[in-house]
Amino acid sequence: MSAARSVRLDKLLANLGYGSRREIQGLARAGALRLDGADLGDAGDRIALDPDLPDRLTIDGAALDPLPGLCLMLHKPLGVTCSHKEAGPLVYGLLPERWRRREPPLSTVGRLDKETSGLLLLTDDGALLHRIISPKAQVAKRYRVTLDRPLAGSEAAVFASGTLLLEGEARPLLPVRLDVEDDTHCAVTLMEGRYHQVRRMFAAVGNHVTALHRDRVGGLDLPADLAAGAYRVMTAADVAAVFAGG
Ligand code: URA
Repeated sequence: MSAARSVRLDKLLANLGYGSRREIQGLARAGALRLDGADLGDAGDRIALDPDLPDRLTIDGAALDPLPGLCLMLHKPLGVTCSHKEAGPLVYGLLPERWRRREPPLSTVGRLDKETSGLLLLTDDGALLHRIISPKAQVAKRYRVTLDRPLAGSEAAVFASGTLLLEGEARPLLPVRLDVEDDTHCAVTLMEGRYHQVRRMFAAVGNHVTALHRDRVGGLDLPADLAAGAYRVMTAADVAAVFAGG
């Protein structure tokens, strides 16, 4: 069994956004930091990064935030932007305020448009992020689409052809699967994540997307009980599901 890596407590807490090292030393001196109920008087001490640390370490009586290596699923509502710095409501504003000061920072795994809702993953693990978005990983994304005009009947073949060119692009799209639900509702499943891809695909066949919702990434479904605007820390099984196809 390999021993857990250890870090200085003040560095760990500063990187989780609890304040400067000096402020954290102040918390320690004031008796606010406790491990298994025992006072941690010196924030300069090293502490083992055991996965169960958030259950054992309290700050002013509250459980420690999740350790680095955090992966979240969020039900993105309409009207919020996947950006750290644009004007208006941002997805990061749906998370606890302290999490915006985490280092490494949380980033969205790809993006959804401001007017797209659904399953959005966030992580502070850069290697995991790249594994999910890498074309090699073949992680499919499924979108529920509402259209302005009835489907013509030819869209599924056009999208599956692997020859569809989006306006202004030189490389055709990889094949996309389309499942018809009714005249103006369908699901599309795609491997790529080009800018406004679904909206532009339907524009290319003379239609217009009026609503777009992502309900699946790889083999991970947006949980029915995760309300719009809510998030959940992903388990190892959730992360494995992303790569389990679907
Ligand atoms: N395609 C789009 O057009 N928008 C999204 O948000 C995702 C895929």
